[in-house]
This record gives sequence, C-alpha cells and structure tokens, in this order.
Amino acid sequence: MPHAKKAMNGKPKKISHAMPDPSRIKRLAILTGGGDCPGLNAVIRGVVRAAVLRHGWEVLGIHDGYDGFLRADTCRKLTSKDVRGLQARGGTILGTSNRGNPLNYPIREGGKIVHRDVTNDIVKRIKELEIDVLIAVGGDGTMKITQALFEKGVPVIGIPKTIDNDLGVTDVTFGFNSAVNSATDALDKLHTTAESHHRILVLEVMGRDCGWIALEAGIAGGADVILIPEIPFDLGRICEHISQRKNSGSRFSIVIVAEGAMPADGKKIYEIEPGMDGRPGRLGGIGRWVAENIGLCTTLETRVAVLGHLQRGGTPTTYDRILATRFGVEAVNLIADGGFGKMVCLRGRRIASATIESAVKKLKRVDPKGQMVGTAESLGIELGR
Ligand code: F6P
Repeated sequence: MPHAKKAMNGKPKKISHAMPDPSRIKRLAILTGGGDCPGLNAVIRGVVRAAVLRHGWEVLGIHDGYDGFLRADTCRKLTSKDVRGLQARGGTILGTSNRGNPLNYPIREGGKIVHRDVTNDIVKRIKELEIDVLIAVGGDGTMKITQALFEKGVPVIGIPKTIDNDLGVTDVTFGFNSAVNSATDALDKLHTTAESHHRILVLEVMGRDCGWIALEAGIAGGADVILIPEIPFDLGRICEHISQRKNSGSRFSIVIVAEGAMPADGKKIYEIEPGMDGRPGRLGGIGRWVAENIGLCTTLETRVAVLGHLQRGGTPTTYDRILATRFGVEAVNLIADGGFGKMVCLRGRRIASATIESAVKKLKRVDPKGQMVGTAESLGIELGR
C-alpha cells in the first residue's frame, strides 16, 4: 500500500514502500526501548494476548530494545502463557537500552570509536526473522529510530511510554502516573521529618527537560516551592518565600526541583555533560545546588534528597496498568487496520492514534501560562518567577 506523507521539514515527502496486507500477517515483534518505566510488562502482555488470542499471530520479543537486532541473541517467542500475571510487574521482561542509538551507533574502528547509522543492519535482521510488523514501545528517542525504520520501508507501530510524560501528541504516557505517585510519597515522608526538625527539605526528581513530575507531585504532595525547567527561577524569590513562611510561623519548607530546572541567570547542571557525539548527557545536581544556596541565603538548616531511579522502578499504579494494557491492545487493532507508521495515544479518555512523525516533532513541555501552573500559584506555591 504506497502512501504519501509530510517530511519533518513540512515539505511533502513520498514513501512508496509496500506495507503488508493485514490479512497476510503472521508474525509481529515487540521491543521496549529507552529508560524503563512501570507498565512496560503490562503493555507486552496486552500486545501478546490480543495478537495471539484475537488474530492467531506469533509474537517475538526483541531483547534490550534496538540493541537486540544488532547481535545474535536477538529475540525469543512470547506465548500467552509467557505473559501471565505480568500486569503488576515493574521493569520489562525483554530488557531495554537507552544507550547506543542505531542512528548514531558507537563502533570500534581501527582502535578508536566512531559513530555510524546502523539502521540498514536492523532492516536486514527484521527481514531475516520474517517479522511482518514491529511494535516499538518507547519515548521520543525510540520513536525517532522507529520513524527512520518506517521511512526505510519497515511496517511499524509505536506505543508511547516514559515517566517524563514529554512525548507529543498523547495527553499522557504510561509510567508517568507511577512516577508521580512515588515522588508524592517521597514528599509526604519528607514533610514529617522537615516538620519535626524545622528544616528545609529539597527533593530532586527526574523528568529530563520537562517539569511534569515535579509540578504534579509538588501539587499533590503540598510542596511550598516547585522548580521546573520551563520556568527558570530566581533564587532570591525562593529564599524570600521560605523566610516569609518562617516569619509567619511555618518553620519548615518543602522544595521539589526537576533535574532539568535552572536559575534564570545560570544553566542546567549535569552529572555527565552532553557528549560531542550527540549523547544527551546525564542531568543531576540541581537539588544539591538549590539546597546549598537556600541554606546560605536563609541561614536555615537545609537537606537534599535525590529520588533517582526509585521513581522509575517498581509496581505500576492501577492507572498505568490500564493505560498500558489499552495501548497494547489498540496497537494490535491498529495493525489489523493497516495503520502502519502510527503511534497509539490518549486523547481525553479515548485511545486514538497519530503518525509517529507528528509525535516526535516537538517535546510536550509544561506551559508556564497553563492551567496546572496556575493551580500551583493559586495555592501560594512559589515557582521562582
Ligand atoms: O527519560 C527517563 C529518565 O528517567 C529521565 O527522567 C532521566 O533524565 C533519565 O531517564 C535517566 O537516565 P539513566 O537511567 O540512563 O540515568
């Protein structure tokens, strides 16, 4: 089925590869790519059950994201029995990888590391394994690779996941709700110790360049200050807010800071700086910076906690189990309808779909003028602007 589409630059681009006739599909493959998150196993279960029970298709599970295609032990068959009870299990039984992007893959050549596009090797392996359709579960990085494969003629379907909730087109990604729950739980715990010791407690959470986790957990967990990448902050305002709270009798304060937040006159803090080779770098350290500077400026006793991978691991919430399962089942429906090159998504309460290309065009960031930020400010929470 040849089809026309728009290129990333907005100009119409023709993709004329033949896509499979859905009635002739025999074998699917599923992979989980990028950072793990709660709900990945629930989505694998949803895909396998719907593919096997409703259509009689065979499903291969690819090991460790796109990495699996680049080595000999690429995959294993997944039966309905293999996915029994998986809805409650965190992580991914298939393994994942958020390093070694196939579009810019590190290869040792002549004693040094060079970077090459190895997507043609992946296309070759997909053909060798006689995979009719590939389902890729991932965030924006995985979806960009998936789109590149689609443009090379591979029939693909995307399923959005990430704790960061930053993927365009979908209202929510699964994994996010579980991460917000963990961060809220951490804030509840920090509250009791902050109150007992009359301290300022700073919690650093993940989210990369988006502040969704910090903003929603901050509102749910009653933070006094929320710092997000979308609103570069003024340290003076934060210290003033905390001092005022103290003067009015509240001798403790809770600050939640997204790892990508930064002072208006500064820049993001990295544990590992972004590499020249296109690697995104590892954010981390802004929590400590904020705590130290609040301590210096207010002379109040201040401590920092970094939530780290605790917000990515463990059992998915009920919400994430349901969303992941619905996404998995809908991905199979999309294949039966021949909707290749599309990603399932949530719009309001309905599962829908959109092109993967449109999903990776732009990160979904917090709107500094949006309702959620307005809600936080109406509660008297300081965002440092
Ligand atoms: O994208 C998910 C995420 O958890 C980000 O919030 C965070 O910046 C990053 O992954 C951490 O990646 P890693 O596990 O490789 O340190």
